[in-house]
Amino acid sequence: MKKVKLELFTLPNRLTLIQIFMVIMILYMLFMSFEIPLAFKAGFGSETVAIGFLTDAMPLLAEQNHQKILPFKLPLTKVSTLSFNKSFEGVSELHKVAKHAYISGKKLWEEVESVSVSGFEFKEKLKGVMVLPCGLTLWSHVTVVGTPRWAHGESDSKIGVVKDRDEAVMVSQFMMELQGLKAVDNEEPPRILHFNPRIKGDWSGKPVIEQNTCYRMQWGTALRCEGWKSRADEETVDGQVKCEKWIHDDDNRSEEWKATWWLNRLMGRKKVVPIDWPYPFAEGKLFVLTISAGLEGYHVTVDGRHVTSFPYRTGFALEDATGLSINGDVDVHSIYAASLPTSHPSFAPQMHLELLPQWKAPPILGVNLELFIGILSAGNHFAERMAVRKSWMQHKLIKSSHVVARFFVALHGRKDINVEIKKEAEYFGDIIIVPYMDHYDLVVLKTIAICEYGIRTVAAKYIMKCDDDTFVRVDYVISEARQVQSGKSLYMGNMNYHHKPFRSGKWTEWVEDEYPTYANGPGYIISSDIAQFIVSEFERQKLKLFKMEDVSMGMWVEQFNSSREVEYVHSLKFCQFGCIEDYYTAHYQSPRQMTCMWDKLQHQGKPLCCNMR
Ligand SMILES: *[C@@H]1O[C@H](CO)[C@@H](O)[C@H](O)[C@H]1NC(C)=O
Ligand SMILES: *[C@@H]1O[C@H](CO)[C@@H](O)[C@H](O)[C@H]1NC(C)=O
Ligand SMILES: *[C@@H]1O[C@H](CO)[C@@H](O)[C@H](O)[C@H]1NC(C)=O
Repeated sequence: MKKVKLELFTLPNRLTLIQIFMVIMILYMLFMSFEIPLAFKAGFGSETVAIGFLTDAMPLLAEQNHQKILPFKLPLTKVSTLSFNKSFEGVSELHKVAKHAYISGKKLWEEVESVSVSGFEFKEKLKGVMVLPCGLTLWSHVTVVGTPRWAHGESDSKIGVVKDRDEAVMVSQFMMELQGLKAVDNEEPPRILHFNPRIKGDWSGKPVIEQNTCYRMQWGTALRCEGWKSRADEETVDGQVKCEKWIHDDDNRSEEWKATWWLNRLMGRKKVVPIDWPYPFAEGKLFVLTISAGLEGYHVTVDGRHVTSFPYRTGFALEDATGLSINGDVDVHSIYAASLPTSHPSFAPQMHLELLPQWKAPPILGVNLELFIGILSAGNHFAERMAVRKSWMQHKLIKSSHVVARFFVALHGRKDINVEIKKEAEYFGDIIIVPYMDHYDLVVLKTIAICEYGIRTVAAKYIMKCDDDTFVRVDYVISEARQVQSGKSLYMGNMNYHHKPFRSGKWTEWVEDEYPTYANGPGYIISSDIAQFIVSEFERQKLKLFKMEDVSMGMWVEQFNSSREVEYVHSLKFCQFGCIEDYYTAHYQSPRQMTCMWDKLQHQGKPLCCNMR
């Protein structure tokens, strides 16, 4: 009995085991036959997502035909409204410098404003050429997202063989070129790389990719990829073949391969089956193409797969490739260039990594603020600004818009840097551009612009000026200012009394024996009535300008004090030389120190210094 019972138990078990095994087999087969297409789709999907993110992050390089990417709209102007009168009739040398700086700044700004983000700009305004100001460098890469257009009839096709004059050939091809824009005038720019996929219409009757160079209007020998992998004995480029293989319409290997591949897998054959791909471009099919600059040549990948490599030809340096042109039968959706050379290492390359919404300035909720903080900065101080954004600008008083802080930046002589500044200003919303050409002797103009913004735009009670290497304890600055009787004029900072000017260099301009009483530049606060006085005197062209902005401020406050008494508040806690414990402000702080100090303030609750650089 027992034995029978056992058998009765095991029989259905055996049956279910076989059933389970069969289900697994079917699933395995299904999985095997769909694995490749799924993997391909997933890879492509993530590629487009990444591009979407990048184009969003780099609004000026991005170009969208159908769906326009709108840049972050500022609630308030990003350009200082301080009215520079064209006729700086002031007598001093500095007024003349300021006048020049203003005139050239105006020109610079107009240039920058002309670089727009509009959808068809690449085609219409840039005439299909994107400028790469400093060319390319090793491992620079340019990614283009586009869709080839459907073939059209051409009666005198240059790439096909015309049999009959009247018979049109169907052509779909496009050209992507790296050009040397800085070449001789009256000559077409050299084509440093001419990349020409011919989807339809090539004389061979098959889709091909031609690559070539053209120098002094002379074409070189074309490198044609016709879908056969370069021979093993042929020269490679950084270890990559010049041409990859793709499936030809007239070989049915893929069908055969699809039919046998999973069987091979099933039987556990170790033989590696080469994976074949179709020609990388098709009419109406989106592609993501990346050209990167290697050691020995350019490498082109499409949808993540290597397609061609083109060895550098003599006569061209990577820096010469200053333009990317795309024309022919293609709709370009976006272009993204990265790892481009720049002469400012603290600048552009890292910028798109830092474009995170949490560092954006909050919108200004209303005027009549208690405190406005103007931070003196310069175009190429991106790292410094980022450190301020990530440290004390995260203070809850600033995040809640009870205190507003803005960077004041003037224009750089180089257009590409100004474009970056504008982009940064649009993204973070915390930069005010003072539209004059930046000049070391003219920082004083930024101070005036801070006063103007503080009274006109945000109507703050107190206006603080600091530098982009100043760490500010926002709450303590406010509570110090509150100590002063309401309605009284205030000038607070680390005061210098009876300082004697050095009689050399740029300080010779000061003719008196002594400087007026002045607060050190890295951090001082004035009340709005003083700012009002400064701005109106400036606009009436009565304001005396002096190269040192802090001494200038001392001079203006002294002038103001002669008609209305100012309370001078001196504190060593507005530290000039670096950092002291229990500081209100600390100066000369590197980006790393900034974040470290903010960390200590947050986690230890104490204003401590960080002594690394
Ligand atoms: C600004 O300059 C113009 C001349 O260019 C002059 O007519 C005008 O009065 C000036 N404005 C002020 C406020 O001084
Ligand atoms: C390839 O296969 C298709 C059908 O699958 C057939 O019509 C065609 O003739 C084949 N071509 C060659 C060259 O075998
Ligand atoms: C400000 O004005 C008051 C009164 O007019 C004077 O006593 C004081 O010395 C002035 N302060 C400075 C720093 O000039």
